[in-house]
Amino acid sequence: MATWSGFHRLDANERLRLVASHARLTAQEAALLQAPSALPHELAARFIENAVGSFPLPLGFAVGFLVDGVERVVPMAVEESSVVAAASHGAKLARAGGGFTTTSMDPVTIAQVELRGLRDPAAAARRLRRRFAQWRHDLDEAIPSMVARGGGVRRIEARPVAGNRLVLHVHVDTRDAMGANVANTVAERLGPVAAEAAGARLGLRILSNLATARVATASCRVPVEAVGGKEVARGIAEADAFAHADAYRAATHNKGVMNGIDPVALATGNDWRALEAGAHAYAARTGRYRALTKWTVRAGELHGRLELPVPVGTVGGVTRLHPVARACLKVLGDPDAVTLSRVMASVGLAQNLAALRALATEGIQRGHMALHAHNVALQAGLQGKDAEAVARQMAAEGHVSGQRARALALEFKKSARGDLAPTRKA
Ligand code: MEV
Repeated sequence: MATWSGFHRLDANERLRLVASHARLTAQEAALLQAPSALPHELAARFIENAVGSFPLPLGFAVGFLVDGVERVVPMAVEESSVVAAASHGAKLARAGGGFTTTSMDPVTIAQVELRGLRDPAAAARRLRRRFAQWRHDLDEAIPSMVARGGGVRRIEARPVAGNRLVLHVHVDTRDAMGANVANTVAERLGPVAAEAAGARLGLRILSNLATARVATASCRVPVEAVGGKEVARGIAEADAFAHADAYRAATHNKGVMNGIDPVALATGNDWRALEAGAHAYAARTGRYRALTKWTVRAGELHGRLELPVPVGTVGGVTRLHPVARACLKVLGDPDAVTLSRVMASVGLAQNLAALRALATEGIQRGHMALHAHNVALQAGLQGKDAEAVARQMAAEGHVSGQRARALALEFKKSARGDLAPTRKA
C-alpha cells in the first residue's frame, strides 16, 4: 500500500494491521495503540502529582507523507474532528509534487541567565566575554553524559536587555533530548559564577522557549492541477498573504499549522506547550505577528514553505516511559530528534495546505459538518450505523443539533417498523 489510498475507508482493526505491518510492531505494541487506556496508574503517578487516572484522546494515523523521500506514517492524538483527515489530504497534495523537503538546525536549546542591576550592561558584556571559553569548558564538565552522547555547550552570548540587565544565552546541544533539564542545569550552574564576575545581582536561570537555535523548515511544490487549478492555487497564496498582512488572521492561520504539530507532539510524549510558545513567539520575531508559512505560485506550481522552532526529543522522560508514545515513535520509524522535528514541520505545512485549500474553495464547514454531525449524533445517544445514518442526514440538511438527531432517530425507527409516511414505503 505505497500511497495508502483508501486507508480512511478501512475499519480500525484493518488500519491497525497495516500500520503495524508497516512499522513491524509486535503484537503487544499494536495492542497498546488500541487500548482505551494504556497508561498504568503507577506511571501516571510518576509523571504528575495528585494523579487519579489518565485522560484518553483519540489516536489516529495520518498517511501518505513523503518526507525527504521517506514514507512516514504519522501518529496524531487529538480531539478535533477533521485534523487527521486534513493532514493526510495535505500530504497527498504535496506528494503530487514529490512530497516534502526539509531542513533543521542542530538540536540546540538556549539557556538564559539574567544578571540584574548593572549600570553599564554593554561594558559588563565586554568584560565577561573573555571568560566564555573557560565557562564553556567548565559547563561541559557539569553535563558529562550529554557530552558523551555528542552534545554539550556550543557557545555563550551576552545580550544587554532593558532595565539594566545583561542576559547570557548558553547554547546547549542536547542531541535527542528535548533539552529542558540539561539547559536548566547549565543555567543554574553558570548563574552564581557569572553574577559574581559581573558584579551583578543574579536573576532568573531557565531555558528560553523562543527556540531560535532549533528551527526546522519544510517545503513542497505542488502542481497547480493537483490543488484544483490555477485559481485555487492563487486563492491559497492570497489566503497566505492575508495572514502576513493581519495579525487576527495570522493567529488562526498559525493555529491551523499547530493543528498538525501538536497532535504529533502529544502522541510522541513531547511538550506541546513549549512548541506552541516557541511557534507564536517566532511568528512575532520581526516585531509584528505574522504567518509562519509562505505560499506562492510560480511556473505552474504552488510553492509552500513553513519555518518554525520545533524543540522535540525522542529520548528521556515521557517519550520513552509512556508505552503508547514509544509505540508511536516506532511507527514513525524511531527517528532522532532532528528527523522528528522535520517530519513535524511537514505535518504542519500539510495541515495548513489542506486548511487553505478548503478556505479558498468551498470553506471548511462542509468537510467539518459531516464529522461534527457524527459527534452530535453520538452525544444524542445514538450508536453505530444509527449514528452514521442520522449524521449523514443532518449534514445533508445543514441542520445539526441534538434535538434534530433525536427526531431523525425516531423517524428512522418508525420507518423501519413500516409505519412512517407512505411515500417512504412505496
Ligand atoms: C481550525 O481548527 C483551523 C483553521 O481555522 C485554520 C485556518 O483558518 O487556516 C481551519
